[in-house]
Amino acid sequence: MPQVLALIVAAGRGERLGGEIPKQYMEIAEKSLLGHAIDAFAVHPMVERIAVVINGMDEERYKAAVSSIGQGKLLPPTHGGATRQESVRKGLQALEGSSDAVVLIHDAARPFLGESLITRAIAAAERHQAAIPVLPLSDTIKHVDAAGLVLATPDRETLRAVQTPQAFRLSLIRDSHQAAIEAKAAGFTDDASICEWAGHLVATFAGDLETFKVTTREDFARAAWLVGNRTEARDIRVATGYDVHAFGPGDHVWLGGVKIAHDQALIGHSDADPVLHALTDALLGAIGDGDIGVHFPPSDPQWRGAPSHLFLADAARRVRERNGRIVHLDATVVCEAPKIGPNRESMRAAIAQAASVVIDQVGLKATTSERLGFTGRREGIAALATATVELPR
Ligand code: CTP
Ligand code: MG
Repeated sequence: MPQVLALIVAAGRGERLGGEIPKQYMEIAEKSLLGHAIDAFAVHPMVERIAVVINGMDEERYKAAVSSIGQGKLLPPTHGGATRQESVRKGLQALEGSSDAVVLIHDAARPFLGESLITRAIAAAERHQAAIPVLPLSDTIKHVDAAGLVLATPDRETLRAVQTPQAFRLSLIRDSHQAAIEAKAAGFTDDASICEWAGHLVATFAGDLETFKVTTREDFARAAWLVGNRTEARDIRVATGYDVHAFGPGDHVWLGGVKIAHDQALIGHSDADPVLHALTDALLGAIGDGDIGVHFPPSDPQWRGAPSHLFLADAARRVRERNGRIVHLDATVVCEAPKIGPNRESMRAAIAQAASVVIDQVGLKATTSERLGFTGRREGIAALATATVELPR
């Protein structure tokens, strides 16, 4: 897996839309368009860092826009230039990345991009070095002259509308931009055309109608309408999971994918991790796809002693296979001992890694049962879990 970086350009003035503030700072559902775009990259498990290019005049607006959003991956902003091309070039110059890093260059004016579009972009860049999201056209396109007379009608089948995020190997796009400035080649309206100019092949992958660019007042109204409708139209599933394992002889337990020293072990067919088992069942419940015993029968010898992160990863894969998105995972461990507090962060990290989500999306709590019942008598450990999943309608 190469390192994946996102570069969002937000230094424009939004003149076509007009209004008092640049469009990327206008808000929909109490979040700026830029904030929506940053959040999409922030929750994507494969994106490591997010760099934003802003206009020097927008420092205060930018601070306000990012104050309430997930900032864990966000780098300090860079200042842009007079054209989009300049802004991207400056952003790329400031971006530090490994030699084979992939960079996703995105317009702040496109607030809506889903996990699957970002995943497609990363996969295409890994494969082709340079790749762009495209849509087929529904209108016929004409070449016209200055007087508006039609010169020709290109074959619509061979035409595509182009969006962002455009995805490149960092070194390739950085070198192309550098070559363009040295040759004083300007006027490019997207990054792929700079690559084409530099002589590189550019591949395409499927774009997303919802990732349209907010350019005019009408676009802004459509974006607001989409968000308003989306909350109603969303198919949000919440499901629970529960698991228990009994203590037996041993010197450690597996909880939430972490090995914890203890004076007993948990007994089970696999590694007997009740937290990962409960989470796996919660995810399977959210998509109505049986339970852990259906997919990994205890009678099957291949799961003997298996690490349970495999089960959780499989359930997460089943969610994504349906174009679903894991919104949140949450678990509670019930035991008198061992102590969970010191292991909480490593358990959250292990759960996040197994389910391919970011740590912010994982909750983990623990409680004793006041010495009551089987957990209170230290006969075993129980875990409860909840998964929240969003599925397409
Ligand atoms: N952009 C930029 N630097 C510029 C110009 C544009 O970073 N000098 C960014 C915009 O902020 C936007 C994206 O490039 O996110 C696409 O540009 P566009 O839609 O044209 O935005 P604006 O230039 O702001 O709008 P307008 O052309 O209507 O003024
Ligand atoms: Mg512009």
